[in-house]
Amino acid sequence: MTTTRIAPSLLSADFARLGDEVRAVIAAGADLIHFDVMDNHYVPNLTIGPLVCAAIKPHSTVPIDVHLMVKPVDRIIPDFAKAGAGIISFHPEATDHIDRTISLIRDCGCKAGLVFNPATPLAYLDYLIDKIDLILIMSVNPGFGGQAFIPQALIKIRDAHLRIVASGREILLEVDGGIKVDNIGAVARAGADTFVAGSAIFAGGDYAATIRAMREQIAAA
Ligand code: DX5
Ligand code: ZN
Repeated sequence: MTTTRIAPSLLSADFARLGDEVRAVIAAGADLIHFDVMDNHYVPNLTIGPLVCAAIKPHSTVPIDVHLMVKPVDRIIPDFAKAGAGIISFHPEATDHIDRTISLIRDCGCKAGLVFNPATPLAYLDYLIDKIDLILIMSVNPGFGGQAFIPQALIKIRDAHLRIVASGREILLEVDGGIKVDNIGAVARAGADTFVAGSAIFAGGDYAATIRAMREQIAAA
């Protein structure tokens, strides 16, 4: 059976109590901490950087899954590696040399992921799939939490799943944006194994109940 992972996005957490929030979602069953980095340039919002990643690191017993929505990408990668990132993912449109950026992430000792916006073709994987550890399919346009899931993402998740199977490699297939208890089953059926959820978990109040309900939907999918 495929291992599945729930990755709560801190974007919807209480930023005044981030350490507590990290410990609370891990106690509730989180497998990864999804850490959204926005720069008010590549996306129209501004969030958190390496200093905050380093600050939450001692509170986390699971890998920190850094989602870079920044342009340029390369300069900030070593900073996140030093700050304790386990996985670093970036958008191919945000760097001039995609292959070099992947190598840089891996040379820094982190797992490397490539992120696909709703309109970004999977063709970027053609000559790269042997070098990456994670594919992240965006099911919203990046920049904000709490947006509605874009159903066309399901087609792309299926296509990405087929590419991963054909590669014969262990590559996580993560989906990010608008994931709730009532659509996570469809996302799992399309082939995803790693599920980012921000507002669904943090706005729900009972983190453990939401994560348990999500796991039940995935198991039934
Ligand atoms: C959006 C971020 C997401 C966001 C998801 O650009 O990458 O990780 O926090 O939030 P929800 O689950 O509320 O759509
Ligand atoms: Zn994200």
